[in-house]
Amino acid sequence: MRTQVGIVGAGPAGLMLSHLLQLQGIESVVLEKNGRDYIENRIRAGVLEQNTVDLLNESGVGDRMKEQGMVHHGIELRFGGQGHRIDMKDLTGGRAITVYGQHEVVRDLIAARIEAGGEIIFGARAVNLHDLESKEPTIHYQKNGEDDELRCDFIAGCDGFYGACRPSIPEGTLTVYERVYPFAWLGILAETPPSSEELIYAYHERGFALHSMRSPELTRLYIQCDPGGDIEDWPDERIWEELHTRLATGEGFALDKGPILEEGKGITPMRSFAVEPMQYGRLFLAGDAAHIVPPTGAKGMNLAVADVRILAEALAAWYGPGQTDLLGEYSETCLRRMWRVQRFSWWMTSMLHRFGDENEFQHRVQLAELDYVVNSRAAATSLAENYAGLPMEKADEWTPAPASGSSY
Ligand code: FAD
Ligand code: DHB
Repeated sequence: MRTQVGIVGAGPAGLMLSHLLQLQGIESVVLEKNGRDYIENRIRAGVLEQNTVDLLNESGVGDRMKEQGMVHHGIELRFGGQGHRIDMKDLTGGRAITVYGQHEVVRDLIAARIEAGGEIIFGARAVNLHDLESKEPTIHYQKNGEDDELRCDFIAGCDGFYGACRPSIPEGTLTVYERVYPFAWLGILAETPPSSEELIYAYHERGFALHSMRSPELTRLYIQCDPGGDIEDWPDERIWEELHTRLATGEGFALDKGPILEEGKGITPMRSFAVEPMQYGRLFLAGDAAHIVPPTGAKGMNLAVADVRILAEALAAWYGPGQTDLLGEYSETCLRRMWRVQRFSWWMTSMLHRFGDENEFQHRVQLAELDYVVNSRAAATSLAENYAGLPMEKADEWTPAPASGSSY
């Protein structure tokens, strides 16, 4: 089989790329190792920043999100038993976030691809990539125990952190940056209306807690936990008890309990991870395949979408006017944004979690940081503009570093 762009992975990055390419008249095939039902029901992120919302709308896949998504103009930071609202709308000149599950975005994109006659091969696991430096790179994959290959002009590695694309790049080519945190998040989805209209990020002596939601009937909640912990050690009663303690306020905040849905319950380890460059020959990495951010800033999915917007534009410039410069700058362009998002995610994580090894001094500094953020308009603005999403920038707004030397 042959196509113009071979895409590995049907997460937000791979599906959005395939959709954007189709709008430019560029053909692609998406290989996804899991089944459609599985990826359409996998509970993950839920906060869309303004750029992501705009792109979904502008590219014609925003209808259900407009109908069912919950637009939020602020978030709450809670510490010392008190809540403090960050008024995102006021601080950013009108920007907002939309709460809409990642699996809903995935459903909308799959539906759009299928309606447009696009090809997504489910149950197809990429094993390795070949001839990345040639004009016809190839993806070797397996489906139903049979070997097959997809030959392309370009490969987009959108197969997440544990995928096959990044490991196909010759050793020594990539520089890896990594930080593993000494904690994880335990997430649940509960059949109960949200107990607050907005998201609550809470810092507590016992650790971080987050109140989020998926709909007027479904609440999404997270607590910081031990990364080596087993979900079996967390019976529902224990989870609710921790949530009540960590989200409590002096004014008697009431957290509503409800049945915990099995599909939303899980422990996610936390790390910051990035590779440079995000390209090797004709392979372009995007989303979690190239970088992981800790979830405290709600940026993982948004960053994946930002990457493929840049990649789709660069590929369109190559197939259309035959321009090679945007593809050459792809890694530079994405990395600049990625490092700013890494900084923000690391900062939110550092401010809001207990690290285990801290002394009273560290605790006081974290409280002072929170106190500063909620009482200084400058500091609150910094949080708000990053949380709502830094504006997308064009590559020519800064001078890119020298090209990596690869040719197309
Ligand atoms: P993915 O969504 O991971 O998609 C990659 C796809 O590639 C998957 O469908 C996978 O099945 C497929 N694949 C992998 N290997 C192969 C292969 N060899 N061949 C073919 N297909 C392959 N972010 C937040 O902001 N907030 C959260 O609460 C949050 N929770 C998360 C919970 C979990 C368990 C995980 C793993 C991530 C979470 N994230 C969260 C991060 C966010 O979901 C990701 O940043 C986002 O999914 C990135 O999208 P992506 O398309 O790059 O990768
Ligand atoms: C959600 C996830 C996040 O990582 C976050 O920072 C806020 C909300 C969520 O799943 O709703």
